[in-house]
Amino acid sequence: MRLSDEQKRMYDGSRGPGVQKAMELLVALGKAFDAEEMIPVSRTHVALSGQEGDTYWCELLVNGGARAVVPPTTNPAWDTQTLTRHYDVTPGELDLALRTVDVYRRIGAVLTFCCTPELAGNVPTFGEHVAFSESSATPYVNSVLGARSNRESSVSALASAVTGITPLYGLHFRENRLGTFLVDVEAAPKEAYDWGLLGWYVGKRVGAQVPVFRFRNLQGRPSPEALLYLGAELNTSGAVPLYHILGVTPEAPDEAVAFGGHKPAGSLSVTDRNLEEQEAELSEKGGKINLVMLGCPHYSYAQLRELDRLLAGRTVSVPFWVLTSGDAMELARRSGELARIEASGARLVPDTCIDEPCWKSFEGGLGVTDSPKCMYYRERRGQPFVIRRLGECVEAAVKGEI
Ligand code: F3S
Repeated sequence: MRLSDEQKRMYDGSRGPGVQKAMELLVALGKAFDAEEMIPVSRTHVALSGQEGDTYWCELLVNGGARAVVPPTTNPAWDTQTLTRHYDVTPGELDLALRTVDVYRRIGAVLTFCCTPELAGNVPTFGEHVAFSESSATPYVNSVLGARSNRESSVSALASAVTGITPLYGLHFRENRLGTFLVDVEAAPKEAYDWGLLGWYVGKRVGAQVPVFRFRNLQGRPSPEALLYLGAELNTSGAVPLYHILGVTPEAPDEAVAFGGHKPAGSLSVTDRNLEEQEAELSEKGGKINLVMLGCPHYSYAQLRELDRLLAGRTVSVPFWVLTSGDAMELARRSGELARIEASGARLVPDTCIDEPCWKSFEGGLGVTDSPKCMYYRERRGQPFVIRRLGECVEAAVKGEI
């Protein structure tokens, strides 16, 4: 790779061992993808997991003197103040959570602890070159905002945060952003949940293509949450950090532009029936439940308002946790939704991911969620989930079964 003089200084250790480690990683990554040079990034987002490997990497950089030159926003780990009041964690698990907060603070990160930075707080503009990790955020910044990010890991995004650069390959080039696969959608998705099912269905079938969606029955423009859920599930069941929707997303005003004049490598059509079958295939059968978990990705303020409407006058009979950003929670506090939601027995919690040890007391029981991504991660930890749209999740919470 061609490196500038300053990049050579970072690589040879003149800027300290922490920056050198980051640079070694970026050069290795660039070589693996045949990048010829580095480019500056103007924003970063690090999908810290609160798990040992990610925290170790951040400590390695910080203890070697590295500091963020493009301060990253951060993914959630878990809210130690709230959740230790409700659930048991081991001293080791608590220590790791506190170490994670401390080390990201020391590196100079913006401690948002939220997996939807692209909706508030870290919003790139069209054409901006950025390094975003987090499987729901990367498709959004690429597809909906038209910024340019590869499918970064927490490790590579943090390396970009402390060096200010990323290898030039992949989705930083316009030609790699062209659609490669046509998805004809006969289905008529209504709420974000339906868009999530569509994303899961298509991601599983297209793998690592750039799908272009052509909707036959689109009712108005999709909401930010719908587009977020589409990308989150595409990039969980598949490896899809970029999609296009004809007439909706900025790099797809029509088929000729979206595909760059090329023929798609394949095509697929999706009906409402396909999505119903997808839900049945993913979801556990019903029964008594011990948890309702929403907010994977983190619920927006608009989703909290909808939840408030659905819960009005109801009382839930099982633990009901809603993961959200600190910003959305504060808005809900000021505007009144928070108090009403909590009066039903449901609880909001900021800064927290569904894939954390604080949730282990529910393992073995049956949960309900509106997110296939939540189901995917929690089932790996030993808790089966029923997936249903939000209204049905609320009904299940009231009855204690589904
Ligand atoms: Fe967010 Fe964790 Fe889900 S980071 S998208 S709540 S897996």
